[in-house]
Amino acid sequence: MAKRAYIETYGCQMNVNDTEVIFAILADAGYERAEKMEEADLIMANTCSIRDNAEQRIWGRLEVFSAQRKARPGVLVGIVGCMAERLKDKLLDTGKVDLVVGPDAYRSLPRLLEAVSPSSPQIDVLLSREETYADITPVRTDRNGISAFISIMRGCNNVCSYCVVPYTRGAERSRDAHSIVREACDVYSRGYKEVTLLGQNVDSYLWKGPGETVNFARLLEMVAAVAPDLRVRFATSHPKDISDEVIHTMAVHPNICRHIHLPVQSGSTRMLELMRRKYSREWYLERVAKIREVMPDCGLTTDVIAGFCSETEEDHLETLSLMEAVGFDWAFMFAYSDRPGTLANRTMKDDVPTEVKNRRLQEIIDLQNRKSLERYKAMIGRQVQVLVEGPSKRDPAQLCGRASNNMMCVFPAAGLKPGDFTTVTVQDATSATLICR
Ligand code: SAH
Ligand code: SF4
Ligand code: F3S
Repeated sequence: MAKRAYIETYGCQMNVNDTEVIFAILADAGYERAEKMEEADLIMANTCSIRDNAEQRIWGRLEVFSAQRKARPGVLVGIVGCMAERLKDKLLDTGKVDLVVGPDAYRSLPRLLEAVSPSSPQIDVLLSREETYADITPVRTDRNGISAFISIMRGCNNVCSYCVVPYTRGAERSRDAHSIVREACDVYSRGYKEVTLLGQNVDSYLWKGPGETVNFARLLEMVAAVAPDLRVRFATSHPKDISDEVIHTMAVHPNICRHIHLPVQSGSTRMLELMRRKYSREWYLERVAKIREVMPDCGLTTDVIAGFCSETEEDHLETLSLMEAVGFDWAFMFAYSDRPGTLANRTMKDDVPTEVKNRRLQEIIDLQNRKSLERYKAMIGRQVQVLVEGPSKRDPAQLCGRASNNMMCVFPAAGLKPGDFTTVTVQDATSATLICR
């Protein structure tokens, strides 16, 4: 009988796609996918190190995995992904882990699984300058078969001073453009209606093949040309790198969704400098103005960090005023978490008291909730095209799906099925959902 692997995925969408790559590699080593940990011979967590609480969660899961390993001798436990890369053999030292594999080493899994035994745990955390897993067809783990993630690059060459990603994911490298287009064609031919192109900074995508150079705008065009009814999304854009060419390319292709995730992090230029984001408040506002000039109905979302090193009340108020001025549809908002080994950790003081961080974060969240409600309510009366994803979570008699601008819509089923495109009229709105007819 084939062995079975169970993987829990934490962290960003890139990790979701990496888990799909891991399942493809494990399939070659004779492992099938298990839906439940109790049925698995191999239990893994694909982990995230971005904030301390992300890692704390994994330590908690490790106890649960450990109990399985004790109860069912022969069961293997693996930690893969960013936390494996960051903590390396510290994970093995717990005695609770058989395998530790970093984000660029998944091809070693079959070899490591051959070699592993209770007395000889295995580790591979080598980072690579070339690995993009371009030739591996991910085993899709989404449930609806409608929307697929495609990684277009790996790693990150920025050194935002608060961020562990450059250390856990290594140097930036772009994947062969033609392999990306092939993957998009493949998922389209299997009935998928949407692809999301993933990278930590998609705007710096750059692939050089024999006699050709493909930048992100050109890649968007190539993927948009796969089929007029294949929606194209992408994340994440970096404010310093998002070019007019990308904005114009979006505008001329109706199947490239009108949504940009543009993490601002702070509204204070002084903070942005300390964060090494390489743009100012004014630059960010200019990029937003450009996007809205070319695509007035473009959805904009962001990430914000509250209480970074030395942040004053004035800096914080600048973040609030920027959020007020832009009016994001939605935001991911975090209290700053000091990460070992980062530039901020080595050279700055994490000196904003926890209560102050949390209070500022709450003010940011309250403001964003108000803005989200405004943005969603402003859609009332408009018609939007949605891609039907499946039953609505709250009311299974209704369907849900996203508008081009990424807003979630719910609407009556009316004979529609997942994967259909339909046009609906917005009747009402909450701060996270458009209620449509
Ligand atoms: N590549 C993306 C972000 C990836 S990490 C970009 O450059 O925007 C996702 C988000 O986590 C970041 O945008 C940031 O808001 C947050 N984040 C990263 N490191 C953090 C830290 N040390 N503390 C709190 N939030 C952090
Ligand atoms: Fe981290 Fe900055 Fe790279 Fe984003 S761009 S992954 S925040 S270092
Ligand atoms: Fe987390 Fe690694 Fe993604 S640290 S956010 S899983 S790149």
